[in-house]
Amino acid sequence: MLKIDKLNYAYPDGHQAIRDINLTIEEGESIALVGANGAGKSSLFKLIVGVSEIKEGSIMVDELAVEKKTLKDIRRRVGMVFQNPDDQLFMTKVYDDIAFGPRNELLDEHVVEERVVNAMEQLGIIHLRDRMPHRLSGGEKRVIAIASVLAMDPRVILFDEPTSFLDPQARRNVINTLDSLKMTKIIATHDLDMALDICDRVIILHHGSVFADGSVKDILLDEALLSQCHLELPLCMQKPRIR
Ligand SMILES: Nc1ncnc2c1ncn2[C@@H]1O[C@H](COP(=O)(O)OP(=O)(O)OP(=O)(O)O)[C@@H](O)[C@H]1O
Ligand SMILES: [Mg+2]
Repeated sequence: MLKIDKLNYAYPDGHQAIRDINLTIEEGESIALVGANGAGKSSLFKLIVGVSEIKEGSIMVDELAVEKKTLKDIRRRVGMVFQNPDDQLFMTKVYDDIAFGPRNELLDEHVVEERVVNAMEQLGIIHLRDRMPHRLSGGEKRVIAIASVLAMDPRVILFDEPTSFLDPQARRNVINTLDSLKMTKIIATHDLDMALDICDRVIILHHGSVFADGSVKDILLDEALLSQCHLELPLCMQKPRIR
């Protein structure tokens, strides 16, 4: 459903962030996109949702190429949950933040309500409906940002570091939430334990290129491979070091 072909990308200052990426992603896959800081994970996401303009190579979402004139359609199919929920939430009520995307699509208000309530029920956050998003905890904000994307009913969701900055219980809550979503998911993360838990395929980016691509077990249990890319085994696979 997602096909990336000979993709290269340099930022306007000349920095080459993506180098010759070729990938095919099938419907329903749950993929962890891993790699050291600066490996190119967020840059790849920005190209998929058209925040950065593709200059070389192509990205297809089903039969639709990602380009300026298809962006509206692409964003109906591909949703993205930003690393920082404050970049995604800006209304004064949770309900209105989740309703923002559907309202922007000029859907009837009763359809909007149905979408918002479904998203909130699915994520168990009905009780937050009238709260102010910027007053909520980091974990609550993260789940509301996910709801705001779910309300658009996308076929693919890209998550950028969904478990960063969360306490253990909020992290577990977000992991369970992600696991419950059955659409195609690509999760950019340093949380390899989460990847082990809820993903079936892992793609390692290294200096903007795909360094490895395979099953969770093949990639995440290969210590030598991981260390070549400045990564380590998931914590649950490491020997405890207790002083
Ligand atoms: N706006 C920009 N202009 C120039 N270079 C950029 C810009 N944004 C990112 N880069 C560079 O592109 C490379 C890839 O960055 P990117 O943010 O995609 O990495 P990442 O894998 O998401 O890293 P992290 O794990 O730290 O989030 C880095 O070398 C970064 O410095
Ligand atoms: Mg990033």
